[in-house]
Amino acid sequence: MYAVYHGAGGLKGIAERTHAHARTLAAALSTAGIPLASGSFFDTVFAAVPGEADAVIARAAEAGINLRRVDADTVGISTDETTTAAHIEAVAEAFGVTVTERATPGDYGFDAALTRTSNYLTHPVFHSIRSETQMMRYLRRLADRDLALDRTMIPLGSCTMKLNSAAEMESISWPEFAGVHPYVPAEQSAGWRDLIAELESWLVEITGYAGVSVQPNSGAQGEYAGLHAIRGYHLANGDKDRDVCLIPASAHGTNAASAVLAGMRVVVVKNTETGTIDLADLTEKIKANRDALAAIMITYPSTYGVYDTDVRDVCELVHAAGGQVYIDGANMNALVGLAQPRRFGGDVSHLNLHKTFAIPHGGGGPGLVRSV
Ligand SMILES: Cc1ncc(COP(=O)(O)O)c(C=O)c1O
Repeated sequence: MYAVYHGAGGLKGIAERTHAHARTLAAALSTAGIPLASGSFFDTVFAAVPGEADAVIARAAEAGINLRRVDADTVGISTDETTTAAHIEAVAEAFGVTVTERATPGDYGFDAALTRTSNYLTHPVFHSIRSETQMMRYLRRLADRDLALDRTMIPLGSCTMKLNSAAEMESISWPEFAGVHPYVPAEQSAGWRDLIAELESWLVEITGYAGVSVQPNSGAQGEYAGLHAIRGYHLANGDKDRDVCLIPASAHGTNAASAVLAGMRVVVVKNTETGTIDLADLTEKIKANRDALAAIMITYPSTYGVYDTDVRDVCELVHAAGGQVYIDGANMNALVGLAQPRRFGGDVSHLNLHKTFAIPHGGGGPGLVRSV
């Protein structure tokens, strides 16, 4: 949507402004005799300040700006579309330098051979929307084509059960939560880490697991990470050939996609007419793949909205064949306060609670990852 709104020319303009800020800073540093690692750059400048990197970084931090410590002698500075002239002045000041001249957008501080010559964003949609009203109408047009919960019941049961209210979701967009940089210095992230640790401890209680990690950040990524953990567990046991992942027909499409990406072979298990996992078919598929069985991915309650009463049998059958149980927790909301997923399959289930992901108990059990 950013590209739709700005179009090819707009994006180029933003890139040129970003680059001009980097050039302004580079010129100020060079003029003051501070060497740069390279004369060719786009948005990132490396300044050589022998023995002074920490002092420069501390001065910039006082002005509310975090710079990158490459090593004791080198500081990295990156500009972007949110950078202002005042930022550049403050950064220059941290180096003890004054900006006297501003670079003009449109001139380039890198080898001309690197300049893009091919067209991009050529589709009409990237050229027809340039006002908020046009954008609003475009989004509305797209929404009108969508079959979603704001219109009707939709077939993927999980979404209804996991649906969070807008008020609960709002906090995610607060800059205090959303604005933190992934490389923020540890001493500036104490509050975030407290919140995360507290959330993890709540999830430990809710799930019954011994530990929880809130990485990675989506259900599909959690599946992928969890399956890698299962694969790692089998490899650590010398089980190189365990690569079959059983997936019920009712599963969300991401389950199969994650399994394939994690290097597993997908074998689909039938569902019964009432939506539960077909135990006869499961038994057969386990038998056919016994030595190769890596895992089953189940969703509880399932995407059909069914609390599968056979869930313990499913776990037992898979465990008995040496497989692991991965639980997709997209529907965890529907379990909270009623049941702890840990109890489905003894100590060896993995839970993907969506957006969070849990590292399990030790105690000789498998080194499991449970994603939430
Ligand atoms: C059962 C189930 N698994 C996995 C996913 C994928 O989650 P995400 O969209 O957070 O990657 C979904 C998404 O709705 C889901 O319903």
